[in-house]
Parts: sequence; C-alpha cells; structure tokens
Amino acid sequence: MESIINSLFLLFSTTTSAAIFVSALVFVFFTFFFINNRRRRPWKIASPVPSSSVVVRRILLGTMGWPFIGETLDFISCGYTDHPQSFMDKRRLLYGKVFKSHLFGSPTIVSTDAEVSKFVLQSDANSFVPSYPKSLTELMGESSILRINGSLHRRIHGLIGSFFKSPYLKAQITSDMRKLLLQSMATWNEDRPIYIQDETKHIAFQVLVKALIGLDPSEEMEYLRTQFQKFIAGLMSLPIKLPGTQLHRSLQAKKKMLNLVLQIIRDKKIKNVGVSQDPTDVADVLLKDKSEKLTDELISDNMIDLMIPGEDSVPLLMTLAIKYLSDCPKALHQLKEENLELKKRKEELGDPLCWDDYLSLRFTQSVITETLRMGNIIMGVIRKAMKDVEIKGYLIPKGWCVLTHFRSVHLDENHYDSPHRFNPWRWQNKDMSSGSSSCFTPFGGGLRLCPGLDLARLEASIFLHHFVTNFRWVAEEDTIINFPTVRMKNRMAVWVKREN
Ligand code: HEM
Repeated sequence: MESIINSLFLLFSTTTSAAIFVSALVFVFFTFFFINNRRRRPWKIASPVPSSSVVVRRILLGTMGWPFIGETLDFISCGYTDHPQSFMDKRRLLYGKVFKSHLFGSPTIVSTDAEVSKFVLQSDANSFVPSYPKSLTELMGESSILRINGSLHRRIHGLIGSFFKSPYLKAQITSDMRKLLLQSMATWNEDRPIYIQDETKHIAFQVLVKALIGLDPSEEMEYLRTQFQKFIAGLMSLPIKLPGTQLHRSLQAKKKMLNLVLQIIRDKKIKNVGVSQDPTDVADVLLKDKSEKLTDELISDNMIDLMIPGEDSVPLLMTLAIKYLSDCPKALHQLKEENLELKKRKEELGDPLCWDDYLSLRFTQSVITETLRMGNIIMGVIRKAMKDVEIKGYLIPKGWCVLTHFRSVHLDENHYDSPHRFNPWRWQNKDMSSGSSSCFTPFGGGLRLCPGLDLARLEASIFLHHFVTNFRWVAEEDTIINFPTVRMKNRMAVWVKREN
C-alpha cells in the first residue's frame, strides 16, 4: 500500500494546474485516508431529522469497495486506460445513473445523471460547498474565489464574470492574442516539429496575466511564470508545511508572486487607475469596487488564484482542437474554408478582425463546442453536502461528497448520437452562447459557472483562425491521456508548412 501511495504522490506532484478540480478527486484520498471511515447509509435521512430514519423513495445502489480505500484504485486504474469511462459505464449498468461509492477517502454519491448534476451545481452553499484537498486550500488564500461562499463569493464572481464579458476586454484580448500569436508563429521552423501544447501554453499565460493585472511581456512576466510553476507544483502535494517540503516551496513562491502583484496593485492605486478610468484588467475592476472587504491583499491573492483554473485549460482546449481536426480532414477543410473566407473579406475591407468576427464563424464555434464536449478538460467537480439533501428521490447525506461527472453526460448516447465521434456538425443551428445546458457543462454551472468561459472561447477562436489560415500541417502520432489531468502524451507535435 505504501508503494502505491508513494507512486501516486509522485504522479500527482508533477501535474499541472488544470488538475485543481481533478485534484479534489485525487488528493482527498491521502488527506482523509485514515480518518474518514464513518459510514452512513445514503438511503436514510439522518440527523437533524429524528432518530427513526425515514426511507426515501429511491435506494441508492453501489458498493463501498474495500475498507478505507473504497473503490479508489479501480477508479484510478480505469483512468489510465484508453477507456477511462469504463469505471462509470460498468456501475451505471449495474446500479443506474446515480450510485454510491467510496472514492479518495470519502463516501461519495456519483452522479452521471444530467438533471441530478444540474441540481447540485445550482444549489447554494447551504446545501453544497466545493471540496478541495488540504494542500490546495493551504495554497489558496482564505478569500480565494475558489474557496469562499455566500455574498462575497457572488460579488467577486459577478465582477470578474462581467469584466470577462466586457467589449473592452474582448477588444484588448483580441489584439494582444493576435500579436503574441503572430510573433510566436513567425519563429516556427518548417524543419522541426512544433509542440502545440507548449506553444499555446506560453501564449495563453501571457494573455491571462495581461487580462488579470495588465502586465505586458517583460522580465516581471517571466519572473511570475517561474514562480507560478513552483507554486502549482504544490497543489497536489502532501499537506505538510515544513521547510524542504513541496508545500513549503510552493508557499514561498506564492509569497514572491504576492509581493509583485501587491506592488502592481499599489502602483495602480497611486495612479488612481481603478477610480478615474474605465477598468482595463480584472484588478482594476476589483479596485473600483467600493466594498471595504476587497482589500489590496484580497485582490492580489485572487489574481494569483485566478491563474490556477485559467493557466492550463485554455491551451488544452486549443491543443485538443488541433488533435481532433488532424484526425478529421472533412472538419478541417470546412473550418479552413470558413476562416479563409473571413480573412479575405477583412483584407479587402482593410479592417482588423474583432470579437464579433470570430463569433460569426459558426462552424469554428461548433468545432470548439465539440472539442469541449469530447475533451472533458474538467471531467467533473466535487461538492460536499452541508446537510441531508434529497434530489429526484435520492438522498445525499450530510458530509458525503457528490461527484458530478460531466464526462459521463457528455459521452452518453442518450444525449449524443455516436458520442465518441468528433462531429462538430451536431452543433450547427444550436445556440451555445450561455455556455452550458444540463447535458453540456464543460464550464460547470450555477453560481460557480466558469467566469472565464468567454475568454476561453475567444482565445481558442483566435488561435484556430491564425493557425489554419497560415499553415498546413502533418501531425505526429499522439494520444490523449485522461488521468489525472487531460493532456497529450507527446505534447502534440506537428510539422508545419506556411501557406502561400
Ligand atoms: C477551456 C477552458 C476552461 C474550462 C473547461 C473551465 C472549466 C471550469 C469549470 C468546470 C468550473 C466550475 C468549477 C466548480 O463548479 O467548482 C470553472 C470555474 C472557474 N473557472 Fe474556469 N474553465 C476554463 C477556463 C477558465 C479561464 C480562462 C479562467 C480565467 C481566469 C477561468 C476561471 C475560473 C474561475 C475563477 C472559476 C471558479 C468560479 C467560482 O468558484 O465561482 N476558467 N471553470
């Protein structure tokens, strides 16, 4: 058992920041491994409801697996196969779409049912709160948007979300992203492979930091990037803060980042940026807020914590789109035609491309939507029940976790024909602008719906436009790894040729 724990630990300590949500799955295993063996039956309502338990309509089937480890090892081993769905598929056949299990040290209700998951996502903090591993909560500030609940959460989430939707930001991101992308593409060599996963990561980090704190590519940006890599290395480390441990190193890195960001925030205040002008980045938006709760420290902390979900997910979206397109020449052809047509039209008019132009590319948007559905960059989220909650007749007991498994819904043939086939045409004539529906939740839903979803779609659209209109390519053989985070095994190498 010790060697399994050690190898899992090594594995998790090398993953990237998108794993924040997956890590909630993974690391609770260590944190609660020895302490959480209290069993309660999910089909009975327990306290505060009176002692004579009430039997609810639907009995949750499932098995709690081995003592302490439950079904965790089975879940993980399926995750490493070419068919990571097998864990869920097997149990769905036996027990139905909602079943009980014991995962990562916690009794867990697994929901592969779109309606049940929707209910969980839409519930407020009186019923469910996000559940993250201890190392992660140590690294996130106490007032991190990822941790807080209630009115402060709604306030910060609302401010960030509306800024990411603002026309100003879209114009700025469009021009920044285009500039950075073209600079990077200009260095691409035709006689060596280009690693799409690395290239997109480099560009997306710069775009994100500019959007958050207004920093342009510079030495400070590189310093931030270095410290950030050290910081995220500890997201899934053992929750021990002693000098020499990974968590300690990550906390030190966060301190260095905080000093830099705090300085930038204070400079903004001296220049009165947040007060007198329209906000040009997320930090400005929070500075402009009159609430005394949004201190400089809280804002700085949140700027860093916002990099966690933003840093890795968007590059993956772009990389997976290139993977799926490389495997589907018909879709690539149609996407290219659509983008070349737009490019030609804009060149004739002499106009630069703006956000609306990218949105007008219906087929490109369908490619992005289908990539989100198939790719399942965030496979699901975990919530912890704060009280007994009944959903569709199922009882979720207080203290239990719920895993809302998005991937199962996205690959359910009751919702999607041939769900494992990349088919962007299935989205034609469907409006996906709200970002989610009960059968499509790559960005979550409810109060915690990802505020970065417009940013993610915009960046992916810009990348696809410039990539397909400037290059032809041949992709090297590569496979998608799904566990513990989604990524390409060989970083998605392509050999490019410039289009004339
Ligand atoms: C393809 C890209 C992305 C995907 C698939 C994605 C997915 C998600 C999902 C599923 C959630 C819900 C988590 C939960 O319910 O606990 C979420 C939350 C969040 N995302 Fe994203 N995200 C992406 C890009 C971004 C970007 C670019 C940002 C920008 C900074 C961002 C910032 C956030 C934040 C701050 C939250 C937490 C919201 C809250 O708890 O109130 N995400 N994301």
